[in-house]
Amino acid sequence: MRKKVIAGNWKMNKLPNEAINFIEEIAPKIKNTENEVILCVPYIDLFYSLMAAQGTNIKIGAQNIHFEEKGAYTGEISGSMLKSIGVQYVIVGHSERRQYFAETDEIVNKKIKAALKYELNPIVCVGETKQQREQGLASKVIEEQTKKALEGLDEEDILKVIIAYEPIWAIGTGETATVEDANESIKVIRNQIEQIYGKGVAEKIIIQYGGSVKSTNAKELFNASDIDGGLVGGASLIPEEFANIINAV
Ligand code: 13P
Repeated sequence: MRKKVIAGNWKMNKLPNEAINFIEEIAPKIKNTENEVILCVPYIDLFYSLMAAQGTNIKIGAQNIHFEEKGAYTGEISGSMLKSIGVQYVIVGHSERRQYFAETDEIVNKKIKAALKYELNPIVCVGETKQQREQGLASKVIEEQTKKALEGLDEEDILKVIIAYEPIWAIGTGETATVEDANESIKVIRNQIEQIYGKGVAEKIIIQYGGSVKSTNAKELFNASDIDGGLVGGASLIPEEFANIINAV
């Protein structure tokens, strides 16, 4: 049985004191969960969040990584930097980064490899646009994104990766994918992984759903056969709401 992994993506929200207050407030509410809980916070909040999360079941992740280890890359943060302060996870290839910061599948692949090199678990986002779904291209798009993202990863590395299926039209819109559609798309990703790595790996890899997850739809989504938890944006900013999502299953 795969465990459920619930991750919050705060995006560009919360100052360090707000991050500390959030973690102090939510920690007692989720202390009995068997689900894995991750908070992906802005760079500036990482150290404070790691301190505040000590002794809790909350793990801390970043939202981006540069693929080089060091050098003349003004404004960038490397895997070795993240690792050095105790970060465990990093989101790679979020659609907002693909859209606003021109991240290609090739860059996403390099970032995943950089994360793994520094023992960070990448949470890799894939997902189609509304137009692609309407044109019947959703499966093709997510198959291709998955394949290109994971290119060159060996069997030892692949199970350190978490995939997040995030249909772009469902992000921040309040328009959640139906449980059936989300589960189907995740099966497409799992099949793609089976083709590359075999059934054993495909059955073990964690694949989340993301896109307008709320406390009111989390239980139904997370109970679907292939949905192994969620990557939560807006609803992860409110301690009560995020705790209810974590405790939904
Ligand atoms: P929302 O939950 O706000 O739709 O955002 C989803 C997301 O982009 C998480 O990475």
